[in-house]
Amino acid sequence: MPARPVLTEPLPAPFDRRVQLFTGKGGVGKTSVVAGLAMEAARRGHRPLIVELGHRASVPGILAPGRALEVGYAPVEVVPGVFAMNMSLDDALEDYITAQVRVRRAARAITQSQALRRFFHAAPAVNEVVTLHRLSRLAEAAPSARGSFSPILVDLDATGHALMFLELPRVFEGLASSGPLRTLLDGFSKLLRDEDTTVLHLVALPLELPAQETHELYEQLRGNTATGVTARVPLGALIVNAVPDRPLTPEELALLPELEAAAPALRADVALARGAQAAAEDALRVVRELAQRVPLPLRRLPRCEGALGADALARLGARLLGGAPVNDERLGVSA
Ligand SMILES: Nc1ncnc2c1ncn2[C@@H]1O[C@H](COP(=O)(O)OP(=O)(O)OP(=O)(O)O)[C@@H](O)[C@H]1O
Ligand SMILES: [Mg+2]
Repeated sequence: MPARPVLTEPLPAPFDRRVQLFTGKGGVGKTSVVAGLAMEAARRGHRPLIVELGHRASVPGILAPGRALEVGYAPVEVVPGVFAMNMSLDDALEDYITAQVRVRRAARAITQSQALRRFFHAAPAVNEVVTLHRLSRLAEAAPSARGSFSPILVDLDATGHALMFLELPRVFEGLASSGPLRTLLDGFSKLLRDEDTTVLHLVALPLELPAQETHELYEQLRGNTATGVTARVPLGALIVNAVPDRPLTPEELALLPELEAAAPALRADVALARGAQAAAEDALRVVRELAQRVPLPLRRLPRCEGALGADALARLGARLLGGAPVNDERLGVSA
């Protein structure tokens, strides 16, 4: 395989940070956004790593369908220049305990004990601690170092997960006031708070309820609610995905009554067009309102037709990294 160019141009803000976390409700398009960004980052000469959490490795199926790739704890090149890993609790735990006890065989013995496994799976925050430990290690090596990754794109699969991460330092406050765990936790907090390294993007859909939930999440992340988190992770973009285009121009819309009168047989089609137009208007209104309540740089992605293959995702990624923000006249907001 030819050597890939070393990092060339930095990616545009707010996608220029080494560690980028993505959160949002189920099905809003987190994995699609992460996969698309990785494709475009690789095209620009970067060495992106997609990190999926849990036991679902969905990226290989999206970017390399039919290749039957096994993606586990070690990064695998899914398509040229794009790496992915799947962080399961057991692997991350073994890695973490190895770092603590310094002997992998002993670590394996600990993680393979049934009783301890049950404990680790049930204990709060273990997942987050070991995941952050691995992320910190991935972000330790200089971005330009051989074999290192940048950007590291983390698909946090649920909003609750993101909040758990940010809660960690507080959960352990008092529990570990000194010693190696304290040092480790301080390291995580540093990674999460470090504006130069880390950023959390919010992914949303242009629908009333998901938008409302995104707003609530934003308030929680900002610490504006009773349950607000104390760790203030730097926030990046508000990515509103799958925004439908208006199917008709104003001129076409104005012609509809005439069309209906002239061709009654087309009435059903006209009604359909009106419905699609109204849905698109509604989506744009939701985006506009959300953008006002969540004052982050807004990035809008279009709703695509059909299955989203690697090429379509790469185009979405290119849209996100398109450079300077463009003023979107139809929305009346900065896109
Ligand atoms: N811009 C888009 N246009 C059309 N379809 C899209 C778009 N973005 C995502 N999709 C589709 O929506 C579905 C959900 O997307 P995706 O799996 O990326 O969401 P997710 O937030 O990762 O979901 P989950 O929470 O289940 O992991 C997929 O079928 C995907 O192909
Ligand atoms: Mg997903």
